[in-house]
Amino acid sequence: MAERTLSIIKPDGVEKGVIGKIVDRFESNGLKIAAMKMVHLSRKEAEGFYYVHRERPFFASLVDFMVSGPVVLMVLEGNNAIAKNRELMGATNPANADKGTIRKDFATDIERNTVHGSDSPESAAFEISHFFSATEIVN
Ligand code: CMP
Repeated sequence: MAERTLSIIKPDGVEKGVIGKIVDRFESNGLKIAAMKMVHLSRKEAEGFYYVHRERPFFASLVDFMVSGPVVLMVLEGNNAIAKNRELMGATNPANADKGTIRKDFATDIERNTVHGSDSPESAAFEISHFFSATEIVN
């Protein structure tokens, strides 16, 4: 089933200079870039994006990190895009990520974990609309 998901290359991924390598993994594995932009998130945008985590002990630190430098926002499209992206990213904590995954290869720790991907169709719909208007996404 063709599906869309939101991907973020986080500030550590941009700083490490691996934008191209990460995009290549998506494109080489059947995910098309349907929208893409590089932005420096405001605190309000980052807090709104991670609203579901607002009660977690790591929330303040996560928001500080996400506004510490530019990020690359993408809408990825393809068959089972949500699951496929999560498979390519690997486990949230890079220490637990499988060999050959983006987080195993590039991430530093559970916070500086290089990429974000939507975890369900509901979160994908919320996350895509948080950052992209309909006219910014190609068909
Ligand atoms: P992400 O998939 O972007 O969603 C929430 C983020 O919170 C997660 O990746 C991690 O980068 C970050 N995070 C920091 N500490 C933790 C933690 N202890 N458990 C889960 N996520 C954490």
